[in-house]
Amino acid sequence: MSGTIQSVLQENRKFDPPPSEGACFDSMQAYQALQDRFFDDMEGTWRELAHAHLSWRKPFTRVLNRDQAPFFRWFEDGELNVSENCLDRHVEAGLGKRTAIIWEGEPGEVRRISYEALLHDVCRAANAMREMGIEQGDRVVIYMPMVPEAAVAMLACSRIGATHSVVFGAFSAQALKERIEDAGAKLVITADGGYRRGAVHDLKSSVDEALKTGCACVRHVLVVKRGGNDIGWRQGRDIDWHEALKVQPDTCEPVSLSSEHPLFILYTSGSTGKPKGIVHSSGGFLLWARLTMQWTFDFRPKDDVFWCTADIGWITGHTYSVYGPLACGGTTLMYEGVPTYPDAGRLWKICAAHSVTVFYTAPTAIRALIKAGDEWPAKHDLSKLRILGTVGEPINPEAWIWYYTVIGGERCPIVDTWWQTETGGHMLSPLPFATPTKPGSATFPLPGIFAAVVDNEGKPVGKGEGGLLVITQPWPAMLRGIWGDPKRYEETYWHKFGNRYYFAGDGARCDEDGYFWIMGRVDDVLNVSGHRLGTMEVESALVSHELVAEAAIVGRPDDVKGEAIFAFVVLKGECDDPAALEAILRKHVSQEIGPIAKPDDIRFAGSLPKTRSGKIMRRLLRDIAAGREITQDISTLEDQKVIEQLQGQQ
Ligand code: WT7
Repeated sequence: MSGTIQSVLQENRKFDPPPSEGACFDSMQAYQALQDRFFDDMEGTWRELAHAHLSWRKPFTRVLNRDQAPFFRWFEDGELNVSENCLDRHVEAGLGKRTAIIWEGEPGEVRRISYEALLHDVCRAANAMREMGIEQGDRVVIYMPMVPEAAVAMLACSRIGATHSVVFGAFSAQALKERIEDAGAKLVITADGGYRRGAVHDLKSSVDEALKTGCACVRHVLVVKRGGNDIGWRQGRDIDWHEALKVQPDTCEPVSLSSEHPLFILYTSGSTGKPKGIVHSSGGFLLWARLTMQWTFDFRPKDDVFWCTADIGWITGHTYSVYGPLACGGTTLMYEGVPTYPDAGRLWKICAAHSVTVFYTAPTAIRALIKAGDEWPAKHDLSKLRILGTVGEPINPEAWIWYYTVIGGERCPIVDTWWQTETGGHMLSPLPFATPTKPGSATFPLPGIFAAVVDNEGKPVGKGEGGLLVITQPWPAMLRGIWGDPKRYEETYWHKFGNRYYFAGDGARCDEDGYFWIMGRVDDVLNVSGHRLGTMEVESALVSHELVAEAAIVGRPDDVKGEAIFAFVVLKGECDDPAALEAILRKHVSQEIGPIAKPDDIRFAGSLPKTRSGKIMRRLLRDIAAGREITQDISTLEDQKVIEQLQGQQ
């Protein structure tokens, strides 16, 4: 198995779930009973859940269509509207005054938006978009800071049947352009800026730049005024969000859409240079968003305040900041800024100020806050917290224990959720009041999910042995494909195991108690601060610089980021100031992709070590980057001196 397998965790401590009155699952027997029902009658169980948890405009008759597997279709003859499920249905149930979104800006201002008010805003935005010519099936790119208007924009798209594609606000103009063009978006919704670390981070200028050099598909740019900074304005193309919404009626009939209608496209990195546009459906996605909110977070819409710290530019923000909590009719918190502004107590201050009960973040944030010191959480009242979640990368047991004791007061169960952009929602996770947890393990598949660890031939491996993580049955929130590239969908996820299993791209093992332990990606994908980055993507960005002949990217273990980006670079000519060039190349990658892709280390060499067949010896480079002893056979290398150079000794 190749790839960056994280150190295999050895952890035997076990934590029993605390008791909880009225929990969705209160024992492993309850979990097993539902899992058994799925095993005996998978489609019947999904049918029941889909009827009970979603409002259908036209009920479905067929649960799962496998005719064109691996292109699965769920509830396909059913029709619904996602925004109606997230808004109208709660208002009609008399919950219009309940807070849907609590928003805190980085400078500290707070907005509380009720379900009724959110519905009105969404209707106005939907009407405004229609007036700009957006129709069912069109694509809309959303490039926004974490402000409520971002959620309004997503829901407005769903109301009229436009497919949204949210692009993370820290992606560069170049990365934005590629995504706009791939999706063929007619409209871009953006802001004049958002607050990050006390300053306004401009977004509109990146949109302008992207549109100047391409994106012929875009007709309009809708701009939320948030940052108050000077921005360029193209008359006729650019439209002020507030001006446009002001004149619209606050009602808009939701369109009835097929359950299979693409709700959104979200780009993620793969093992080739080009990001993949992961397509998600309406019905299946929303069902799973709602069910996993209830199962994994034991979400109680009447009492809970749920805070997922992810940006809506990632899948976590889609499923657990917006669609999941709203589909349940609960309260979701959105925060605009960085976790350490103005100090390392910000997250805990927000938890205390808004009585957050369920908190969900990434191990990288936890590790950074551990470094900042225990005095920060100690300053704030965290007694309202009842469940803590993590996502995005394996959590090391030390970080788990800190989260459990210092943040959760040994009172709150920890749910370590394993899933991916492609899976739409949680796949492996403890159930907070049922599953005994082991620090570092995502424990078991959720009800309805069937997972296994197999070898390269697809045969299950023995207990405790490392292998590849696969999902053996389709599930409603599974991706429906890669936008515009059905072949790549089949090749990436299905061909490895002859269309039988979904191949996740992660290494894993199951221990003697059946607990799953994720060991990291087995492909050329890095996990940097919980963000997925393709090595080829960063390599192409480097090679696009005129001075670079060749580049290889590997991950180096980092105690905060999980993995840091280590670049080996071969130049076209000589360089007399490597430090200056390093800075130039880092800036270049930032412009090509975004600051998250900036290499942490760059090392220059005369050539890269390759096998006889010309493949870069990545394992060797990973050892060098980590400062480890070299484990790969290098006797075939023609130029042994290169190793010393790569090790930084020359
Ligand atoms: C990859 C997916 C799912 C939302 C955030 C990332 C890694 C995710 C865990 C976890 C160990 C994890 C996997 C996966 N990952 N959660 N709890 N334990 N690894 O979504 O960008 O699509 O990345 O993140 O390697 O394949 P993504």
